[in-house]
Amino acid sequence: MPGLFITMEGPDGAGKTTVIEKLIPLLEERTNVTITSTREPGGSRIAEDIRQIILDVQNVEMDVRTEAILYAAARRQHLTDRILPNLEKGGIVFCDRFVDSSLVYQGVARGIGVEEVYQLNQFATAGKIPDVTLYLDVPAEIGLERIHLAKGNRQFDRLDQEGLQFHKMVRQGYLDIIPTDPERFIQIDATKTVDEVVQECLTALVDRYPEYFTNGER
Ligand SMILES: Nc1ncnc2c1ncn2[C@@H]1O[C@H](COP(=O)(O)OP(=O)(O)OP(=O)(O)O)[C@@H](O)[C@H]1O
Ligand SMILES: [Mg+2]
Repeated sequence: MPGLFITMEGPDGAGKTTVIEKLIPLLEERTNVTITSTREPGGSRIAEDIRQIILDVQNVEMDVRTEAILYAAARRQHLTDRILPNLEKGGIVFCDRFVDSSLVYQGVARGIGVEEVYQLNQFATAGKIPDVTLYLDVPAEIGLERIHLAKGNRQFDRLDQEGLQFHKMVRQGYLDIIPTDPERFIQIDATKTVDEVVQECLTALVDRYPEYFTNGER
């Protein structure tokens, strides 16, 4: 079987990282294929260096297009270092955020425009797109509240300084891009409990890819 490229998207605090951590072991029980769980910059040394520049709290004067280019550059390196090699071996790659995040954060919320950020990322990825994208949907207020509650455990970076309006634009941005690729996106109501969200993601993937994931009868 060919590799399977799955991404997880959604606003800050939607629960992407939490859900992936619980979902991967459940998927592993249902397949013999190796699952690589990753996130940008994904431990890729060069991508990590690029990411440091983006997140540096001192870089307050960073231009929005510079930021978009740096994200695309880090993405390119992570794609070639981690994602493509694992897909070429026939593996399953599960990535926490990918191009859609840039379309929404840089394209919509930062105001560059979705089309231009799309073109930039087409160059960076050479057109590689995920097979399926789980979109965890939460209203901005809920996402922000979760982040606030978690603050003690979370590293504070420059992007956390954004306000409610920014988070609202992010969520609306996602809701607007989903209809442009309805076959790829699976929208999940992420206001439910973590376990419910995990179960919905699991069911969606097992239903869609029975050739990769059995119903647990192995
Ligand atoms: N369904 C849920 N119900 C209640 N709390 C949740 C839920 N999902 C996640 N959380 C909590 O919300 C906080 C943020 O979750 P998490 O870091 O997984 O979000 P994220 O989508 O990865 O955010 P980011 O985009 O900032 O990385 C964590 O403290 C997590 O425990
Ligand atoms: Mg996360």
